[in-house]
Parts: sequence; C-alpha cells; structure tokens
Amino acid sequence: MSSCTKRLKKLSTNSHGATTWKAPSNIALVKYWGKKDIQIPCNPSVSFTLKNCYTKTSLKWEASSSDEKGFQYTFLFEGEETPSFHGKIDQFFEKLMDYIPEIKDYRFEISSENSFPHSAGIASSASAMAALSLCLVSFERDMGLDLTEDQFFNRASFFARLGSGSACRSLYPEVACWGESEVIGNNLFALPLAQKLNEIFKNYQDSVVIVDSGVKSVSSRAGHALMNDHPFAMTRFEQASLNYRKCLEILEKGDLESFIGLVENEALTLHAMMMTSKENYMLMKPGTLDVIEKLRLFRSETNIPVCFTLDAGPNVHILYPKRNEEAVKTWISENISFKVIHDELGEGPINL
Ligand code: PMV
Repeated sequence: MSSCTKRLKKLSTNSHGATTWKAPSNIALVKYWGKKDIQIPCNPSVSFTLKNCYTKTSLKWEASSSDEKGFQYTFLFEGEETPSFHGKIDQFFEKLMDYIPEIKDYRFEISSENSFPHSAGIASSASAMAALSLCLVSFERDMGLDLTEDQFFNRASFFARLGSGSACRSLYPEVACWGESEVIGNNLFALPLAQKLNEIFKNYQDSVVIVDSGVKSVSSRAGHALMNDHPFAMTRFEQASLNYRKCLEILEKGDLESFIGLVENEALTLHAMMMTSKENYMLMKPGTLDVIEKLRLFRSETNIPVCFTLDAGPNVHILYPKRNEEAVKTWISENISFKVIHDELGEGPINL
C-alpha cells in the first residue's frame, strides 16, 4: 500500500533516460460496472490477462532546461501525431502530478503502438494505460525510487487505474483481481490471483469475434455513471461480490460447468444493466445474438465447454480450453463470418 501513496520528497534527478514496455489487454469474467470518485469500483472484478492483444509504449525523458516551461510531452501513435488522444493523456498526467512530482521538470516523448488494429473494436485503453504506467514507474525507478518487484507492479496498477479502471488489471499474469473483498483489502490497485490457477485454465483461449468495430454509441464513462441511480444497482453489486467469490473458487477447482454459467451470466447482466438504466441503451447488435445462439447450439451438440463473454460493446469473446482449440477454431472458421482475433491467456507485461 505504501508504494502507492503520495511521495512528499522529491527524488534525485537523472537528466535523461528511456524505457519500453509491452502491456496486454484483459477481458473481465466478473464485471466492473459502476464506480465512485476516481475509478473506485462499486464491486470486485476478475479478469483474464490476454497475450496477443497488447500495446507497446516507449517513453523517453529529458530534464527541461531552465528557460523551458517545465512539463511537456509529444505523443506518437503508430508513428503519427494523434491530437485526438491528447485530452486523455493530459488528464492522466494531471492526476499523476501529485504522485510523481518530478514530471513537472521533464520533457517526455511517448510513442505507442497496438498489436491489434485500432479500429478492431477491442478496447485499447486497458493495455495503453498499463503500458504507459509501467513506463512512468520505470522513470521513477530511474530517479531513484526504491521498489520491490511487487511494489513496482502494484504502483503501475495504481497509476493505470487513474487512467482507466479496468486497466489496473492488465499488470499481472493470467488472472487478475481488483476491488475490496475478503481477498483484497483495497480498491486502489489490482493484484494477481492469490490461489493456484487450475491446470485447465492454463493457456485458456479467447477468440474475439469483431461483430462491429465502430465507435460505441455510449461511452464506458457514461455507462458507469448510469449505475449511480440505477434501480437494480445494489442487487447487482451484491451479486457481483458473490460471483467474485464463486469465480475464484471455480478458477482454482477447474469446474468448467460452473465457469460457463457464471461467465455468461455476468456478460448478460452487464448488458441488462445498460438496457434497464434510466437512459437505457443497447450495445449488442443482431450479429452479437447470432454468434451467441450459434455458440450455444455448438456447445449442446458437441459438449465442448465453450462459452462467451462480452465487454461493453457488441463483440463476442469466445472462451474455451486449450485442449479444444482445434475443434473450436474449425467451427469458428466454418460458421462465423465476422473477423476474428485469436488470443489466449498471457504472462503479463514485458520490459523490452
Ligand atoms: O475501464 P472502463 O472504465 O473502460 O470500464 C470497463 C468496464 C467493462 O469492460 C465493461 C468491464 C470490466 O470489468 O472490464
């Protein structure tokens, strides 16, 4: 915890340096939907850390000379200036100034790229915020901040949360948990799964069906806000806490039948919350339902333990054990006409 609190003392300053981090995206099994303050979740959540969908970010820093105005940055996304991202980055740095006062005296060059197409409809804020946060903790380490490995990643998770809530779960291998519960004592950063992950979930597969890659009609920020006076909010938060506990048990025991029931229920509840809020809206598309129906038929015909989950969008994440990879991928290629990005559980961020 102490590694994530504000620092009162400035660190010694190295005049320049650089680092590069690769951080993955994640997909929630138990969903975070509803928040207070700066991404303080209303319920605990659990996610799979992905492998192939990642952001690679390089950060270079140089002390501003005395005639410069202090903090400045340039940002390149896939080699191009992208002013549309500046609002989010400005806000992020503003929040971080309290925690990393040295930022004020430096010029930064940030350059970022995604392994997945920007318009694929896969949320990239989780991997992007995680990668940038790791670069910034590396910057602090270069300034002399003394952190153990665990403190390093917890601090990066804390920073990532300030940028985008679900991003704080992208810092750990395989499975990450976030939110106050019997297992975790705080809401400020995520942690890796404490229990042993059952063998069946090793290299678990996630094939993401891109039903629609357009911009969402309602942002996550607006969606979270609609939980504030949602008629079912309290019931939902209680249900999520219960599902969180059940999910940890399932991940340890490897009970696939319960996994399927819980994960699909969580996905549909997330969308049910959107459809039943005061200003209701729907992010699923006809293609989403079509894929879900086909998948359920395939499961009942073959008994293959394949299931789906959804993010706050129309795309369908098809989850299945590694041992069923061939059968499921063949079924996907023969039955799903949308673009599919194949991913699986990964080992978390890498410093390049
Ligand atoms: O991190 P945000 O604010 O984009 O919220 C994302 C919430 C969901 O992706 C819908 C669920 C989750 O837990 O990741």
